[in-house]
Amino acid sequence: MGLNPQLNPRSSLAAPSAEALAHSARVAAHIRGAIERAGGWIGFDRYMELALYAPGFGYYAAGTRKFGDAASGGDFVTAPEISPLFARSLANQVVQAFDHCAPHVLEFGAGSGALARDLLDALAQLGARDVRYAIVELSADLRERQLATLAGRGVEWLTAPPARFDGVVIANEVLDVMPVQLFVKREGRVQERGVTTIDGDRLVLAEAPAGRELATAVAAIEAEVGALPDGYGSEVGLIARAWVASLADWLARGVALLIDYGFPRREYYHPQRLMGTLMCHYRHHAHADPLWLPGLNDITAHVDFSALADAAHSAGLSMLGYTSQAHFLLNCGLADLLQADHTHARANEAHRLISEAEMGELVKVLALGRAVDAPLIGFARGDRAHRL
Ligand SMILES: C[S@@+](CC[C@H](N)C(=O)[O-])C[C@H]1O[C@@H](n2cnc3c(N)ncnc32)[C@H](O)[C@@H]1O
Repeated sequence: MGLNPQLNPRSSLAAPSAEALAHSARVAAHIRGAIERAGGWIGFDRYMELALYAPGFGYYAAGTRKFGDAASGGDFVTAPEISPLFARSLANQVVQAFDHCAPHVLEFGAGSGALARDLLDALAQLGARDVRYAIVELSADLRERQLATLAGRGVEWLTAPPARFDGVVIANEVLDVMPVQLFVKREGRVQERGVTTIDGDRLVLAEAPAGRELATAVAAIEAEVGALPDGYGSEVGLIARAWVASLADWLARGVALLIDYGFPRREYYHPQRLMGTLMCHYRHHAHADPLWLPGLNDITAHVDFSALADAAHSAGLSMLGYTSQAHFLLNCGLADLLQADHTHARANEAHRLISEAEMGELVKVLALGRAVDAPLIGFARGDRAHRL
């Protein structure tokens, strides 16, 4: 997602259906209830959690289409939805990792199930036939969709990671939809942005003094990148960091491949990136208003890969590589795979995956390991681990 951002989406958009508007009104009412119960204000992370994941209400927890092109009513496309070349390239990396761990895959947030389907096909083609494949999915609605895509393939669904896992973990565009806290610098102090209501029903952003955890996180960022100017606003992804640290509790042996939009800390909190990276997606229009039509919009924030690398290191995981999606896929043999299945359409798909103007440079791949220290093929050229 995140292609061709247009910051003022509303003028050129077809109006949502009456049913969609009624659903969004119910989501907004649910959020207003949470704000009221919390005493009039909730942090943005809580808002994002409700807008995306509240059971039966949230964007990922209710039945909108989400994935796919604009004509099909989707809001965004992800790499596995663009082309099976993504899964086929990834399969080469997964098979190499299987030399060092059990032939098990654990995919987080499998969306429509396209990556699991194409990865299982590609792994079988590479001779890895007895692969155990499990999916951890929070959304009951998406689990239903994945069940339909993956019927008869022996995939297992989990609501949480197993107590102990040996194999390859994959998370594609999962960390960028984990709730983030928003902060803004005001006269040298850190304020937290959250959500309140005005006129009894309108959701608006409002600031409150930052709590200790957020203030400490911002101080750590400033210790590294220098003092951020007054008015500077951005996000902190403490949930994504905790998720990475928790990997160390259950990944007994293997490799975790985390694929997402993001950058190292110095780029993320560059003094000129004054407004952070929060981005919303509705019918292929990217916009910056997370309060608009809650429940109908995806809300994302880029990933601070330096923070994830720190969290992994502190938790005892090793870093096996960090590079752009373009380098990773080319290192995994994308060019040969394209040659073997060359059509005009496939060439276009490959271009979208690796072009700098599309996903090739904005999306990064971070590989973390436990009890595996072999060099991974995906990072053979262009490894940027030193930049984190
Ligand atoms: C943007 S979609 C990406 C889907 C898919 N990986 C793809 O590339 O098409 C985000 C997915 O992550 C899931 N998700 C978000 N947070 C999660 C978590 N903590 N654990 C597991 N899945 C999660 C969502 O329900 C959804 O399936």
